[in-house]
Amino acid sequence: MRITDTADLWWKNAVVYCLDVETYLDWDGDGCGDFAGLAQRIDHLADLGVTCLWLMPFYPTAERDDGYDITDFYGVDPRLGTHGDLVEVIRTAKDRGMRVIVDLVVNHTSAKHPWFRSARSSKDSPYRDWYVWRADPPPDTSAEVVFPDQEDSIWQLEEKTGEWYLHKFYKEQPDLNVANPAVRDEIAKVMGFWLQLGIDGFRVDAVPFLLETSGIPEEETERFPDPHEYLRALRSLVDRRAGDGVLLGEVNLPHDQQQQFFGGTDGDELTMQFDFIAMQAMYLSLARCDVAPLVDALTSRPATNPDNQWGMFVRNHDELTLDKLSEDERAEVFAAFGPDPDMQVYDRGLTRRLPPMLAGDPRRVRMVYSLMFSLPGTPVLFYGEEIGMGENLAAEGRLAVRTPMQWTSGRNGGFSTAAPSKLPGPVVEGGFSPEFVNVADQRRDPDSLLSFMKLLVRRYRESPELGWGTFEVLGQPHPQVLAHLSTWDDGTLVALHNLGAEPRTVPLVLPDCGSTHRLEDLLEPGSTPLADDGSVELTLDGYGYRWLRVVAEDSRRLV
Ligand code: GLC
Repeated sequence: MRITDTADLWWKNAVVYCLDVETYLDWDGDGCGDFAGLAQRIDHLADLGVTCLWLMPFYPTAERDDGYDITDFYGVDPRLGTHGDLVEVIRTAKDRGMRVIVDLVVNHTSAKHPWFRSARSSKDSPYRDWYVWRADPPPDTSAEVVFPDQEDSIWQLEEKTGEWYLHKFYKEQPDLNVANPAVRDEIAKVMGFWLQLGIDGFRVDAVPFLLETSGIPEEETERFPDPHEYLRALRSLVDRRAGDGVLLGEVNLPHDQQQQFFGGTDGDELTMQFDFIAMQAMYLSLARCDVAPLVDALTSRPATNPDNQWGMFVRNHDELTLDKLSEDERAEVFAAFGPDPDMQVYDRGLTRRLPPMLAGDPRRVRMVYSLMFSLPGTPVLFYGEEIGMGENLAAEGRLAVRTPMQWTSGRNGGFSTAAPSKLPGPVVEGGFSPEFVNVADQRRDPDSLLSFMKLLVRRYRESPELGWGTFEVLGQPHPQVLAHLSTWDDGTLVALHNLGAEPRTVPLVLPDCGSTHRLEDLLEPGSTPLADDGSVELTLDGYGYRWLRVVAEDSRRLV
């Protein structure tokens, strides 16, 4: 096995962990998480086996969109610390073998950004054409808004100058005019700045929106005929400045369109993209206890360059979007996992985390994470998933899953010593509260979810077949069961997942295998011989999961 390749193309089998400094750990006791707190918890992340930390926006913000409305692209929100504190975190993370990527949110600025303040004040402002304006009244664009409960148009009238500006997200987030070369230069400068500070790349926010030019006057788009050329230029910039830096793009589009954002099979645009399609199909499969939707999604992925990678996830920081399912499919997932209106948002998503959706069933929760880690791609965890945190539906919309990290069973879950009213959001209550779900207790418990997650991470990392290899579905009779084979070079791994509550016996025939091979369980002790024709019967508990390494008689692989 070309094990040394995994050091170069590190993102192919990384373990990414996303957190918001604001909700992770408050070290100075003011109620707000900070870099000094995060520094204290780098060892927790290293212990979990994280290899790449993704920091959600930590820039100065007007706080309309939880940090995604930035007032200074070069700054650090003073509530979280200073550039110095950030650099200390980066350095400590690197010492523990972790890379650090940061959110790049350049589709828009905050309306309070000095560029927009200037732009909106006069048509003669030097920053006027850094944004997108129209002089005539806009048509009905209510179908195009991203936050339908808050906005009814993507155009907002600026009274002072009598023109409308474009905003695909909140009206407090005016879109930057990417057709303007000055804006493009500035974005490159912003990226260069953070790369120079030692980060390893970016999670690129809302990429299709950034590249989209509808609404921009024609004379300007003529100067910007191919937005993908721009994405290629940004990728080249990262390559030149950081060598092995990455662009991990948020592109929630059908697979065939995502292919374009990788740069086709040349692979010279985004290094990685989240697989929103597979994620949504996974929830449909879970709701139906039928693996077919998930298998369809994975096998319909477009051809990509082998250096690119898909980011796999169970949950991210936003609503659990189900927008790419049909209305009926979405209704099935809603009915199974979030039937109450206060669990749903924007008519397309859920505001819950996985464990409450599964009524806290530990077998089922573990099965889902085992499944996610075993699918072809790089797993991306959202903070708190490692201990099975729940949500707080009392927090508005997407904030329900952005509650303070639960470190101990103590006050505020050990997140902060401040009064609860000072925290960025309410702590989770009820059965998933810190009293029952916290890092300190789970660290000491070999049977905890945290211990299980560490095992998954360790096995994932030592099984590059999963991140690098081919994905082949093995035929067997149970629609509830996914049996798949991942092969890379001379390594092969079989993974079995039972989405149903009934135990199953799964007959399999492994290609090119015989009685000189055996299967070694990787998540529990166990070894199973294969028959001469490569056939074997494997048992699975209800919601059971198994990872098995195919080991040849003469294999020198450590098992
Ligand atoms: C992305 C972020 C989301 C944010 C939006 C606008 O979708 O994930 O949190 O609201 O972009 O920046």
